[in-house]
Amino acid sequence: MTSARRALIALSLAAPLAAQPPATPPRPHDASVFTVIPRPAQLTPGTGNFTLAANTVLVADLALETVARRFARDIAAPTGFELAVQSVAPAPGTPHIHLALDPAVNGAEAYALQVTPAAITIRAATPTGAFYALETLKQLLPPAIYREARVERTPWTVPAVTISDAPRFAWRGSHMDVSRHFMPIEHVKKHLDLMARHKLNRFHWHLTEDQGWRIQIRKYPRLTEVGGCRARTSIGPYQSEESRRTYDPRPHCGFFTQEQIREVVAYAAERHIVVVPEIEMPGHAQAAIAAYPQLGVRPDTQVTVYDTWGVAPGIFNADESTIRFLQDVLTEVLELFPSPWIHIGGDEAIKDQWKASPRIQARIKELGVADEHELQSWFIKRMDSFLTERGRRLIGWDEILEGGLAPNATVMSWRGVAGGIAAAKAGHDVVMAPNSHTYFDHFQSRDITREPHAIGGFTPLDHVYSYEPIPDGLSADEAKHILGAQAQLWSEYILTPQHMEYMAWPRLSALAEVVWSPRDQRDLADFMRRLHRHGLRLNALGVNYRRW
Ligand code: ACM
Repeated sequence: MTSARRALIALSLAAPLAAQPPATPPRPHDASVFTVIPRPAQLTPGTGNFTLAANTVLVADLALETVARRFARDIAAPTGFELAVQSVAPAPGTPHIHLALDPAVNGAEAYALQVTPAAITIRAATPTGAFYALETLKQLLPPAIYREARVERTPWTVPAVTISDAPRFAWRGSHMDVSRHFMPIEHVKKHLDLMARHKLNRFHWHLTEDQGWRIQIRKYPRLTEVGGCRARTSIGPYQSEESRRTYDPRPHCGFFTQEQIREVVAYAAERHIVVVPEIEMPGHAQAAIAAYPQLGVRPDTQVTVYDTWGVAPGIFNADESTIRFLQDVLTEVLELFPSPWIHIGGDEAIKDQWKASPRIQARIKELGVADEHELQSWFIKRMDSFLTERGRRLIGWDEILEGGLAPNATVMSWRGVAGGIAAAKAGHDVVMAPNSHTYFDHFQSRDITREPHAIGGFTPLDHVYSYEPIPDGLSADEAKHILGAQAQLWSEYILTPQHMEYMAWPRLSALAEVVWSPRDQRDLADFMRRLHRHGLRLNALGVNYRRW
């Protein structure tokens, strides 16, 4: 054969091959595939997918076995898989999720997560870090992973990725007022569940108010028997005096038994959430005074549990017996709540009754304090030393700065940020809760005719997202005192769990990103892109969130 002919044959053999598309190396996923909220600190897309299947094995170090089992339980209903949890390595080639305790991962809540087509590897220094890794993993799966019933024909794929994540702030909070309107335990638990899915970790439970005392105290049963019920409830817009005086004539009652409180605290702990109870003093005390008139400034006047919104005039007196009463209450509170922080309120204590009372004025002289503000400060300091001696820390609203801050107090800054700045400069820890950005009882639209009635204000989603918890004017050292931030759900005008969900979500999704994600990773447009997908998760979870 001539060489020309040989070349022709070679060409014809090669031709069909040349017609094939060139083999392109697989490409990593586009970043838009990833929709995790709050946004992880570092995320690098990988190539290919891991597919969760009935034979996927969870391999967990002993300390992480509990979080592994909980994950298996969580996803059992939608997937129908009963994933094995074991501590020994599986046979080679078995698809698996490996949870490894790794002290080299920096931070008690930090984690590393690597997804490849063959396996998922999670590393964390603590069970909390591993728990958050698994919450992220759920968000990498299809939103149907959050359904409670079996979902057929869904491929449970996870896009390959490498994530290294840790929170920006230690205090990532959600407050809930169950005093103005009582909320059932199922709602509280669902809220805790949703918090955990957003890596929120402090549940501030506002349990006592002028309008209702909602925590059983064994030593003082009238607190809930009398203080747990109001005869009627003011309805209509707060802004109108006339409609404030219009009432729903039905009694409004409810409280949590100590058994239920323990159940909630345990439920939260399983989700790596600390429950911070709030027992209001010296103001917002009218329900307690209705139950025990001797606690008030005018013991000969029987008051009723307040039925109107706003702050009642009822304030605790400053007798030793009243201090003892409140410390008895706190003693039971400490048994129920392992939280390092105990919230004693301290806000909006109307001092008119103190000013007008000869007995209180005599007490002011006896104690050698200058005025009513210093009397409040004396009151709070008594609680501060009581809690400190028992290994806990007092936290209170920013009015506790007035008249002198108690030595170990943490300040919750709600009237803007000035209180937080002053406290941080004085070397005290601070939780930011400014009504400018974090009061979720405010309206979410300017067109309030299309919104359920709210207390006022305007705090839409993008405004929440724009919030920066470190205020201007603090040095780097002072800024370390800012523990984080939280959202407030005051319930004067939130009558039902469904309505509370509407006020909470997705504003809490935005706040979760504010307190978790690095500041330079925050990007509203990107958040809204991810939120689109997140809405499907909230649908699957049965949340009555506000559509944006
Ligand atoms: C508050 O809103 N009174 C703390």
